[in-house]
Amino acid sequence: MKNKSTTSFEEAYKKDVYLGLTSYPKYLLSKYIYDKDGDKLFQKIMDLPEYYLTECEFNILEQHKAQISETFVSPDGFDLIELGAGDGKKTKILLKYLSDKKAQFKYLPIDISENALQELEASVHKEIPEVDIKIQQGTYLETLERLAEYNSRKKVIMVLGSNIGNLLHKDAIQFLKKIRSAMSPNDMLFMGFDQKKNPQTILNAYNDPQGVTAAFNKNGLMRINRELRGNFNPDNFLHWETYDPETGTARSFLVSTKEQQVTVGDLELEVHFEQWETIHTEISQKYDDHVVNWLAKEAGLKVTEAFSDDKNYYKNYIFRIEGDL
Ligand code: AVI
Repeated sequence: MKNKSTTSFEEAYKKDVYLGLTSYPKYLLSKYIYDKDGDKLFQKIMDLPEYYLTECEFNILEQHKAQISETFVSPDGFDLIELGAGDGKKTKILLKYLSDKKAQFKYLPIDISENALQELEASVHKEIPEVDIKIQQGTYLETLERLAEYNSRKKVIMVLGSNIGNLLHKDAIQFLKKIRSAMSPNDMLFMGFDQKKNPQTILNAYNDPQGVTAAFNKNGLMRINRELRGNFNPDNFLHWETYDPETGTARSFLVSTKEQQVTVGDLELEVHFEQWETIHTEISQKYDDHVVNWLAKEAGLKVTEAFSDDKNYYKNYIFRIEGDL
């Protein structure tokens, strides 16, 4: 028998795919790109020279680890809770520094992938054995509900990788508000935001010549083929990226290169595509200080510190509670 969380995930997935493919214009939610294949492709994206985000954040953590760690530490110790920890490659810079400085803390990485968490736990045990680590599997939503349980001492909540950029502003505010509602006055949020920059640099980051990002985008279709008995032919779709320098929104699409009919067996759905019809698949929002301050204010938070890389491509901000919600 399937357990409740598997069943509800499958139901939500089916419902979301059905809604997306029967809407006009069509869309698919980007969170469903991340199955086993999608995770692997995203790992490859993070190693691409065009995808500057990873290296920029890595450099920020490396260059500013002393100042950042100083803001984390507290006389009674602290809990470092990372949402969407992944392979923890960047986080280990801070973990190593904190443990060298004999800081009292517990590391609580949370991720949707049990596999990624187990690998992270094993690598932290091996590389920085002094770190007290407790892994937890869960979605962002379940995670946020669990956050308030950590209230015996200071919490530092960490979200790296500009993951917030995959949310529309109104959803980003809801996400920040949820985090805010789990925070006590002494707690902090440490979060990465990719910044507005030369539009061409952004377009290149989401349209690499090797086609890794295209394969990542098309994994949304491949997953429907695998899990919902779909018959999408990925070769009949073109990966297309746009960037609006005014709003800072990068958008990914799949464009149907011909008129075609696709069947999704498990949804009993026949989907018709006109030639050049689109499926909107992802947004990757880019920010500036003005927008980040606005998001923070809307969510009852305030920015107290910001750390940037040399090129000002990317920033990690520290947020604290401001006022009532
Ligand atoms: C996970 N997220 C922040 C990535 C981004 O930059 O929007 C996902 C991604 N999509 C294409 N390339 C990377």
